[in-house]
Amino acid sequence: MISTATTLAGSNFDNCMMNASGVYCMDSDELLAVENSKAATFVTKSGTLQPRKGNPEPRYFETEFGSINSMGLPNNGVDYYLDFVSQDQINHPGKTYFLSITGFNLAEDLELLQKVTDSDFAGVVELNLSCPNVPGKPQTGYDFETVDAILKAVFDVYHKPLGVKLPPYFDIIHFDQMAEILNKYPLSYVNSINSIGNGLYINDDTETVVIKPKQGFGGIGGEYVKPTALANVHAFYQRLNKDIQIIGTGGIQTGKDIFEHILCGASMVQVGTALMVEGPVIFERLTAELEAIMAEKGYSSIEDFRGKLNYL
Ligand code: DOR
Repeated sequence: MISTATTLAGSNFDNCMMNASGVYCMDSDELLAVENSKAATFVTKSGTLQPRKGNPEPRYFETEFGSINSMGLPNNGVDYYLDFVSQDQINHPGKTYFLSITGFNLAEDLELLQKVTDSDFAGVVELNLSCPNVPGKPQTGYDFETVDAILKAVFDVYHKPLGVKLPPYFDIIHFDQMAEILNKYPLSYVNSINSIGNGLYINDDTETVVIKPKQGFGGIGGEYVKPTALANVHAFYQRLNKDIQIIGTGGIQTGKDIFEHILCGASMVQVGTALMVEGPVIFERLTAELEAIMAEKGYSSIEDFRGKLNYL
Protein backbone atom coordinates (compact mmCIF):
# COMPACT_ATOMS: atom_id res chain seq x y z
CA MET A 1 0.00 0.00 0.00
CA ILE A 2 1.59 3.27 -1.16
CA SER A 3 0.81 6.45 0.75
CA THR A 4 1.75 10.05 -0.05
CA ALA A 5 0.53 11.15 3.42
CA THR A 6 2.62 13.52 5.50
CA THR A 7 2.73 15.30 8.84
CA LEU A 8 3.48 19.01 9.04
CA ALA A 9 3.24 21.52 11.86
CA GLY A 10 1.73 18.83 14.08
CA SER A 11 -1.12 18.00 11.68
CA ASN A 12 -1.62 14.94 9.51
CA PHE A 13 -2.38 15.31 5.80
CA ASP A 14 -3.49 12.45 3.58
CA ASN A 15 -1.40 13.78 0.68
CA CYS A 16 1.79 15.88 0.58
CA MET A 17 0.54 18.32 -2.09
CA MET A 18 -1.23 21.67 -1.97
CA ASN A 19 -1.44 24.95 -3.86
CA ALA A 20 1.20 27.66 -3.54
CA SER A 21 -0.08 30.91 -2.10
CA GLY A 22 -1.15 33.23 -4.90
CA VAL A 23 -2.51 30.46 -7.12
CA TYR A 24 -6.15 29.32 -6.91
CA CYS A 25 -6.69 30.98 -3.56
CA MET A 26 -7.91 34.54 -4.12
CA ASP A 27 -11.53 33.95 -3.19
CA SER A 28 -13.92 31.30 -1.86
CA ASP A 29 -14.60 29.83 -5.33
CA GLU A 30 -10.90 29.20 -5.99
CA LEU A 31 -10.23 27.93 -2.47
CA LEU A 32 -13.16 25.52 -2.71
CA ALA A 33 -11.85 24.25 -6.06
CA VAL A 34 -8.58 23.29 -4.33
CA GLU A 35 -10.50 22.00 -1.31
CA ASN A 36 -12.47 19.65 -3.57
CA SER A 37 -9.42 18.41 -5.48
CA LYS A 38 -6.89 15.69 -4.58
CA ALA A 39 -4.75 18.32 -2.81
CA ALA A 40 -4.30 17.69 0.91
CA THR A 41 -5.31 21.21 1.91
CA PHE A 42 -4.98 24.81 0.74
CA VAL A 43 -3.18 28.02 1.62
CA THR A 44 -4.91 31.35 1.08
CA LYS A 45 -3.62 34.27 -0.93
CA SER A 46 -1.45 36.42 1.36
CA GLY A 47 -3.93 38.57 3.26
CA THR A 48 -3.04 42.15 4.14
CA LEU A 49 -4.74 44.33 6.74
CA GLN A 50 -6.80 46.07 4.06
CA PRO A 51 -8.05 44.59 0.77
CA ARG A 52 -5.79 45.51 -2.18
CA LYS A 53 -6.38 45.80 -5.91
CA GLY A 54 -2.73 45.07 -6.68
CA ASN A 55 -0.69 46.25 -9.66
CA PRO A 56 -2.05 47.30 -13.08
CA GLU A 57 -2.68 44.59 -15.71
CA PRO A 58 -1.29 42.75 -17.56
CA ARG A 59 0.54 41.45 -14.50
CA TYR A 60 0.86 37.68 -15.14
CA PHE A 61 2.31 35.99 -18.23
CA GLU A 62 3.02 32.34 -19.05
CA THR A 63 6.10 31.41 -21.05
CA GLU A 64 7.33 28.12 -22.49
CA PHE A 65 9.26 27.36 -19.30
CA GLY A 66 7.24 29.05 -16.58
CA SER A 67 5.71 32.35 -15.62
CA ILE A 68 6.45 35.93 -14.69
CA ASN A 69 4.16 37.83 -12.34
CA SER A 70 3.91 41.20 -10.73
CA MET A 71 0.53 40.90 -9.08
CA GLY A 72 1.38 43.28 -6.24
CA LEU A 73 -0.53 41.38 -3.58
CA PRO A 74 -4.10 41.81 -4.76
CA ASN A 75 -6.28 40.23 -2.07
CA ASN A 76 -9.59 40.50 -0.25
CA GLY A 77 -8.02 41.45 3.07
CA VAL A 78 -7.12 39.18 5.96
CA ASP A 79 -10.62 39.30 7.51
CA TYR A 80 -12.08 37.68 4.37
CA TYR A 81 -9.65 34.76 4.49
CA LEU A 82 -9.96 34.34 8.26
CA ASP A 83 -13.75 34.17 7.97
CA PHE A 84 -13.61 31.71 5.08
CA VAL A 85 -11.12 29.36 6.69
CA SER A 86 -12.74 29.50 10.10
CA GLN A 87 -16.02 28.41 8.47
CA ASP A 88 -14.33 25.75 6.35
CA GLN A 89 -12.78 24.23 9.47
CA ILE A 90 -16.27 23.73 10.86
CA ASN A 91 -17.41 22.07 7.63
CA HIS A 92 -14.38 19.76 7.57
CA PRO A 93 -13.48 18.78 11.11
CA GLY A 94 -10.02 17.30 11.36
CA LYS A 95 -8.68 19.16 8.33
CA THR A 96 -5.93 21.74 8.77
CA TYR A 97 -5.70 24.82 6.55
CA PHE A 98 -3.01 27.41 5.96
CA LEU A 99 -3.58 31.15 6.19
CA SER A 100 -0.96 33.27 4.43
CA ILE A 101 -0.49 36.80 5.76
CA THR A 102 1.85 39.65 4.95
CA GLY A 103 2.28 43.04 6.57
CA PHE A 104 4.26 45.95 5.19
CA ASN A 105 6.17 46.36 8.46
CA LEU A 106 6.52 44.68 11.84
CA ALA A 107 3.61 46.57 13.40
CA GLU A 108 1.34 45.32 10.60
CA ASP A 109 2.58 41.74 10.98
CA LEU A 110 1.73 41.90 14.68
CA GLU A 111 -1.68 43.43 13.98
CA LEU A 112 -2.41 40.64 11.51
CA LEU A 113 -1.41 38.02 14.07
CA GLN A 114 -3.59 39.67 16.69
CA LYS A 115 -6.54 39.24 14.33
CA VAL A 116 -5.66 35.57 13.94
CA THR A 117 -5.44 35.17 17.71
CA ASP A 118 -8.83 36.83 18.16
CA SER A 119 -10.47 34.58 15.56
CA ASP A 120 -11.56 30.93 15.63
CA PHE A 121 -8.80 29.98 13.17
CA ALA A 122 -7.17 26.73 14.26
CA GLY A 123 -4.80 26.12 11.36
CA VAL A 124 -1.27 27.11 10.40
CA VAL A 125 -0.12 30.66 9.63
CA GLU A 126 2.31 31.20 6.76
CA LEU A 127 4.03 34.56 7.14
CA ASN A 128 5.08 35.74 3.69
CA LEU A 129 8.47 37.47 4.00
CA SER A 130 9.24 37.45 0.30
CA CYS A 131 6.86 39.26 -2.04
CA PRO A 132 9.02 40.79 -4.80
CA ASN A 133 6.32 42.86 -6.46
CA VAL A 134 5.26 45.83 -4.39
CA PRO A 135 6.94 48.93 -5.87
CA GLY A 136 9.20 50.58 -3.31
CA LYS A 137 9.02 47.66 -0.87
CA PRO A 138 12.06 45.37 -0.74
CA GLN A 139 11.76 41.64 -0.10
CA THR A 140 11.98 41.31 3.68
CA GLY A 141 13.71 37.95 3.42
CA TYR A 142 16.83 39.59 1.99
CA ASP A 143 17.15 41.87 5.05
CA PHE A 144 18.53 39.42 7.59
CA GLU A 145 18.39 41.77 10.60
CA THR A 146 14.76 42.59 9.91
CA VAL A 147 13.84 38.90 9.59
CA ASP A 148 15.45 38.31 12.99
CA ALA A 149 13.60 41.27 14.55
CA ILE A 150 10.27 40.20 13.04
CA LEU A 151 10.58 36.60 14.23
CA LYS A 152 11.57 37.71 17.71
CA ALA A 153 8.56 40.00 18.01
CA VAL A 154 6.22 37.45 16.39
CA PHE A 155 7.14 34.60 18.74
CA ASP A 156 6.90 36.89 21.77
CA VAL A 157 3.16 37.14 21.11
CA TYR A 158 2.18 34.20 18.90
CA HIS A 159 2.50 30.61 20.11
CA LYS A 160 0.55 28.58 17.57
CA PRO A 161 1.91 26.85 14.42
CA LEU A 162 3.60 29.36 12.11
CA GLY A 163 5.91 29.02 9.13
CA VAL A 164 7.65 31.53 6.89
CA LYS A 165 7.71 31.84 3.11
CA LEU A 166 11.21 32.77 2.05
CA PRO A 167 12.73 34.16 -1.11
CA PRO A 168 15.39 32.08 -2.86
CA TYR A 169 18.97 32.51 -1.63
CA PHE A 170 21.93 32.05 -3.96
CA ASP A 171 25.02 32.05 -1.78
CA ILE A 172 26.16 29.44 0.73
CA ILE A 173 26.91 32.12 3.33
CA HIS A 174 23.33 33.32 3.04
CA PHE A 175 22.01 29.81 3.68
CA ASP A 176 24.28 29.66 6.75
CA GLN A 177 23.27 33.09 8.06
CA MET A 178 19.55 32.68 7.46
CA ALA A 179 19.48 29.19 8.98
CA GLU A 180 21.25 30.52 12.07
CA ILE A 181 18.50 33.10 12.51
CA LEU A 182 15.65 30.66 11.81
CA ASN A 183 17.04 28.10 14.27
CA LYS A 184 16.56 30.57 17.13
CA TYR A 185 12.78 30.41 16.82
CA PRO A 186 10.02 27.79 17.28
CA LEU A 187 9.06 27.86 13.61
CA SER A 188 6.89 25.02 12.36
CA TYR A 189 8.37 25.20 8.88
CA VAL A 190 10.10 27.23 6.21
CA ASN A 191 8.64 27.35 2.73
CA SER A 192 11.25 27.67 -0.03
CA ILE A 193 10.95 29.31 -2.48
CA ASN A 194 8.86 32.30 -3.44
CA SER A 195 9.30 33.36 -7.06
CA ILE A 196 12.78 34.44 -8.17
CA GLY A 197 12.29 38.17 -7.89
CA ASN A 198 12.69 40.76 -10.61
CA GLY A 199 13.33 38.68 -13.68
CA LEU A 200 12.63 40.16 -17.08
CA TYR A 201 10.86 38.30 -19.89
CA ILE A 202 10.56 40.01 -23.27
CA ASN A 203 8.77 39.56 -26.56
CA ASP A 204 11.36 39.73 -29.36
CA ASP A 205 8.77 40.40 -32.07
CA THR A 206 7.31 43.48 -30.44
CA GLU A 207 10.55 44.31 -28.59
CA THR A 208 8.42 44.83 -25.51
CA VAL A 209 8.14 43.56 -21.97
CA VAL A 210 5.18 41.25 -21.27
CA ILE A 211 3.81 42.65 -18.01
CA LYS A 212 3.00 46.26 -17.18
CA PRO A 213 4.14 46.88 -13.58
CA LYS A 214 7.74 47.87 -12.83
CA GLN A 215 8.61 48.19 -16.53
CA GLY A 216 8.23 44.43 -16.98
CA PHE A 217 10.27 43.18 -14.00
CA GLY A 218 8.53 40.38 -12.11
CA GLY A 219 8.81 37.18 -10.10
CA ILE A 220 9.78 34.09 -12.09
CA GLY A 221 8.13 30.71 -11.42
CA GLY A 222 7.79 27.33 -13.11
CA GLU A 223 10.38 25.09 -14.71
CA TYR A 224 13.04 27.85 -14.69
CA VAL A 225 13.22 27.84 -10.90
CA LYS A 226 13.34 24.14 -9.95
CA PRO A 227 17.13 23.86 -9.46
CA THR A 228 17.11 26.97 -7.26
CA ALA A 229 14.12 25.66 -5.32
CA LEU A 230 15.75 22.25 -4.76
CA ALA A 231 18.96 23.93 -3.63
CA ASN A 232 17.10 26.07 -1.10
CA VAL A 233 15.07 23.11 0.20
CA HIS A 234 18.18 20.98 0.63
CA ALA A 235 20.37 23.76 2.03
CA PHE A 236 17.78 24.44 4.74
CA TYR A 237 17.23 20.72 5.30
CA GLN A 238 20.95 20.39 6.00
CA ARG A 239 21.06 23.40 8.34
CA LEU A 240 17.77 23.67 10.23
CA ASN A 241 16.91 22.00 13.53
CA LYS A 242 14.95 18.88 12.74
CA ASP A 243 11.80 20.29 14.36
CA ILE A 244 11.63 22.99 11.65
CA GLN A 245 10.13 21.23 8.64
CA ILE A 246 10.31 22.31 5.01
CA ILE A 247 7.70 22.97 2.39
CA GLY A 248 9.19 22.75 -1.10
CA THR A 249 7.82 25.13 -3.70
CA GLY A 250 9.18 25.84 -7.14
CA GLY A 251 9.12 24.17 -10.52
CA ILE A 252 6.73 21.33 -9.73
CA GLN A 253 5.07 20.08 -12.92
CA THR A 254 5.25 16.31 -12.46
CA GLY A 255 5.39 13.61 -9.81
CA LYS A 256 9.13 13.37 -10.53
CA ASP A 257 9.56 17.00 -9.47
CA ILE A 258 7.74 16.24 -6.21
CA PHE A 259 9.93 13.16 -5.68
CA GLU A 260 13.02 15.38 -6.05
CA HIS A 261 11.73 18.00 -3.58
CA ILE A 262 11.06 15.27 -1.01
CA LEU A 263 14.46 13.67 -1.65
CA CYS A 264 15.94 17.11 -0.85
CA GLY A 265 14.06 17.16 2.46
CA ALA A 266 10.59 18.63 1.87
CA SER A 267 7.74 17.28 4.02
CA MET A 268 5.09 18.92 1.86
CA VAL A 269 5.12 20.55 -1.58
CA GLN A 270 3.23 23.44 -3.12
CA VAL A 271 2.34 23.90 -6.77
CA GLY A 272 2.15 27.36 -8.34
CA THR A 273 2.62 27.94 -12.07
CA ALA A 274 1.58 24.41 -13.13
CA LEU A 275 -1.60 24.69 -11.04
CA MET A 276 -2.35 27.97 -12.77
CA VAL A 277 -1.89 26.24 -16.15
CA GLU A 278 -3.79 22.99 -15.49
CA GLY A 279 -6.19 23.85 -12.66
CA PRO A 280 -6.84 21.80 -9.50
CA VAL A 281 -7.33 18.58 -11.49
CA ILE A 282 -3.50 18.57 -11.68
CA PHE A 283 -3.36 17.04 -8.19
CA GLU A 284 -4.78 13.76 -9.55
CA ARG A 285 -2.02 13.47 -12.13
CA LEU A 286 0.69 14.49 -9.67
CA THR A 287 -0.49 11.96 -7.09
CA ALA A 288 -0.62 9.14 -9.67
CA GLU A 289 2.85 10.05 -10.98
CA LEU A 290 4.42 10.22 -7.51
CA GLU A 291 2.80 6.93 -6.50
CA ALA A 292 4.11 5.27 -9.68
CA ILE A 293 7.67 6.41 -8.92
CA MET A 294 7.36 5.19 -5.33
CA ALA A 295 6.00 1.82 -6.50
CA GLU A 296 8.86 1.37 -8.95
CA LYS A 297 11.42 2.17 -6.26
CA GLY A 298 9.73 0.06 -3.59
CA TYR A 299 8.86 2.97 -1.29
CA SER A 300 5.59 2.83 0.62
CA SER A 301 5.76 6.20 2.40
CA ILE A 302 7.48 9.51 1.70
CA GLU A 303 9.51 9.04 4.89
CA ASP A 304 11.27 6.14 3.14
CA PHE A 305 13.21 8.62 0.98
CA ARG A 306 12.66 12.11 2.42
CA GLY A 307 15.96 13.96 2.75
CA LYS A 308 17.95 10.90 1.65
CA LEU A 309 19.72 12.57 -1.25
CA ASN A 310 23.04 10.90 -2.10
CA TYR A 311 26.28 12.77 -2.79
CA LEU A 312 29.12 11.80 -5.10
O1 DOR B 1 5.54 36.08 -6.86
C1 DOR B 1 4.81 36.55 -5.99
N1 DOR B 1 3.74 37.29 -6.34
N2 DOR B 1 5.10 36.34 -4.69
C2 DOR B 1 4.39 36.91 -3.68
O2 DOR B 1 4.72 36.72 -2.53
C3 DOR B 1 3.24 37.76 -3.98
C4 DOR B 1 2.76 37.70 -5.39
C5 DOR B 1 2.14 39.02 -5.77
O3 DOR B 1 0.98 39.24 -5.34
O4 DOR B 1 2.78 39.84 -6.41
